[in-house]
Amino acid sequence: MKRRLPDVLYNPLSIAGAALAATSFLTIVFLTFVELFQKAAPAYIGIISYVFLPIPLIIGLILIPLGAWREKRRLARGMPASRLQFTVDLNSSRQRSALILFATFSIILLLFTAYGSYRTFEWTESVEFCGTTCHSVMEPEHTAYQNSPHARVKCVDCHVGSGAGWYVRSKLSGAYQVYAVLANVYPRPIPTPIKNLRPARETCEQCHWPSHFSGHKEVINTYFKSDEQNTRWTIGLLMKIGGSSSGEQGPHAGIHWHADPEVEITFVSPDTLRQTIPWLRVKDSRTGVTTEYRSTENTVSDEDLRALPTSRMDCIDCHNRPSHIYRPPSRIVDNSLTGGRISTKLPGVRAVAIGALTAGYTSTVAAMDSIPLALAAHYQGPDSALSPENRELVSRASAELQDQYRRNIFPRMNVSWKAYPNNIGHMTDLGCFRCHDDKHVSAEGKVISKDCNSCHTIMYQGTGPRPEVLSATGLEFRHPEDIGDAWRETHCRDCHTGG
Ligand code: HEC
Ligand code: HEC
Ligand code: HEC
Ligand code: HEC
Ligand code: HEC
Ligand code: HEC
Repeated sequence: MKRRLPDVLYNPLSIAGAALAATSFLTIVFLTFVELFQKAAPAYIGIISYVFLPIPLIIGLILIPLGAWREKRRLARGMPASRLQFTVDLNSSRQRSALILFATFSIILLLFTAYGSYRTFEWTESVEFCGTTCHSVMEPEHTAYQNSPHARVKCVDCHVGSGAGWYVRSKLSGAYQVYAVLANVYPRPIPTPIKNLRPARETCEQCHWPSHFSGHKEVINTYFKSDEQNTRWTIGLLMKIGGSSSGEQGPHAGIHWHADPEVEITFVSPDTLRQTIPWLRVKDSRTGVTTEYRSTENTVSDEDLRALPTSRMDCIDCHNRPSHIYRPPSRIVDNSLTGGRISTKLPGVRAVAIGALTAGYTSTVAAMDSIPLALAAHYQGPDSALSPENRELVSRASAELQDQYRRNIFPRMNVSWKAYPNNIGHMTDLGCFRCHDDKHVSAEGKVISKDCNSCHTIMYQGTGPRPEVLSATGLEFRHPEDIGDAWRETHCRDCHTGG
């Protein structure tokens, strides 16, 4: 056979390398075309063609010159000169065609690699990559995300943001995560706060202008009591979101005062989830006043205080569940009853439904089997007096609860409303009451208030779906169940555990 390439290349190592590189390359080309021309290409095609296949390709390419170099050394050492002497001679048509072939191949390869790298970048930034590649690990976050106000915002917009620095950081920690998943050593649930989450000021503020004045927002919550009649109870709140001083409309107060760029709130917390806050400091650069508050309930010594790391309050200290909202069963069932997906005609269905969701199943499959059984056991026992119409309502309620379970509770990852506290309110978690508990006092005697009409005004409350009394200044809270003054002294979440 006539040899068209330099003889040093005709050694086993180089030939094996070339074969390896060529096969991986052709496979990548093939998969790229499949991906380009097929609308619904399989989800994993990207990880194969852009992450795994380049590895043998590069190894193959390294083997070719390595083999040639070894061959040359063999020759130099005077070992059996099995091949012809190697000289570069462009007048030799054989060497010329070898060079042209090599150059063309390299250029094509380079183009494809560039395109491939771009596709890799694009693909690893997609919701599909973040949410489904590691499958069951991200299932809770990906599912909850799809039912959130940010379902159209890409994962990376919050978790990485723009700029090469954060891209590299996220890929480095991502590489460890791939290892953790492959080696099955990842934590269940994934712990928060996420250590290397980019500061909220750089991510949320790409879309939400912090100085924007939001004004008041009406929040209407419909509840049902756990009695036989499933008595409805509605509370209409006007949330005083407010805005900041640097907005075009001048100084404003309200909830977003904490996020005003001119206000700096620093706090310490001995627990990783930041649920107890023994000390905090407010620096208001508009007035130049600095105030320190200490909790009279959770006290720490000055020495311990100095040892604790401080955090500056930002969006995530309140909005820690903007996208991954795992709703507590009481809220799930109230929503289903409000939406009519579970009928209030079924006597005492609220309590039964909450019981069916909270029974502590070991797997989603077990929950899917047990939820209908729990409802049937209650409603379709031997002495049940349900009409055929109500039997239909029971099976519809079961289907709704199964659906809601799949969206909010993930036994495989130990994820549910209990896994992560939600800091935005104060009903089933401490939330705002971490500081606003009437027990954080400054040296001058200022207290961070728990007054029910300071963050929101209660516009109306009662059993009717429509307001009985509408108040602009705020009504005195009436607890739907007679518990005396307990709601004033005890935090709501001490009784309202969500289940
Ligand atoms: C609107 C912004 C936003 C979007 C979009 C978003 N996340 Fe998150 N994510 C957060 C915040 C905030 C946290 C909680 C951070 C904390 O408490 O430290 C979080 C937490 C997480 C956690 C830790 C576990 C948990 O449930 O708290 C994972 C895993 C996660 N996100 C994955 C994803 C994936 C996958 C996507 C896309 C499908 C996504 N995120 C989209 C803001 C977002
Ligand atoms: C890429 C743009 C984008 C980013 C980044 C983003 N958001 Fe949003 N956010 C939106 C859009 C769009 C909406 C409005 C959704 C709607 O009206 O349904 C929204 C709505 C909201 C709402 C109102 C939710 C409701 O119930 O109506 C809150 C609160 C919020 N975002 C907080 C955050 C926080 C906190 C972060 C940072 C972790 C963040 N957002 C990051 C685009 C973004
Ligand atoms: C002190 C806690 C707190 C901080 C800090 C905070 N927020 Fe809010 N934010 C709230 C509350 C409470 C609401 C009203 C929630 C509701 O009922 O939907 C709200 C509402 C919002 C809304 C919805 C406004 C609307 O008109 O519906 C957006 C968007 C938002 N916040 C973004 C941000 C961003 C971005 C930051 C950081 C710069 C931030 N928030 C900091 C507590 C906070
Ligand atoms: C880290 C502690 C902390 C947390 C958590 C916190 N706050 Fe505050 N908040 C403060 C401090 C300190 C003040 C100032 C008190 C004062 O000056 O009287 C304040 C003041 C306020 C004010 C009055 C602002 C004004 O000047 O008009 C509102 C409204 C408010 N907070 C709402 C909320 C809401 C809603 C939440 C929960 C989503 C919350 N806060 C969580 C510390 C906190
Ligand atoms: C520091 C601010 C603050 C104070 C003080 C406060 N609330 Fe709230 N409250 C909130 C916020 C924020 C929410 C959550 C709104 C949301 O979920 O969008 C909320 C939600 C609620 C809800 C609806 C709960 C739910 O999730 O179903 C009720 C009821 C309520 N508050 C009653 C009260 C009562 C009663 C008091 C007085 C003991 C009180 N609040 C004091 C900030 C406050
Ligand atoms: C001492 C215990 C206790 C405290 C504290 C408490 N509640 Fe309740 N709450 C109850 C009981 C018991 C019911 C009746 C439960 C039922 O019908 O299933 C109830 C019912 C409710 C309901 C009707 C819907 C539901 O979820 O059952 C609302 C709304 C409510 N409470 C709000 C609050 C708020 C807001 C606070 C804090 C300001 C609070 N509660 C503090 C014990 C408490």
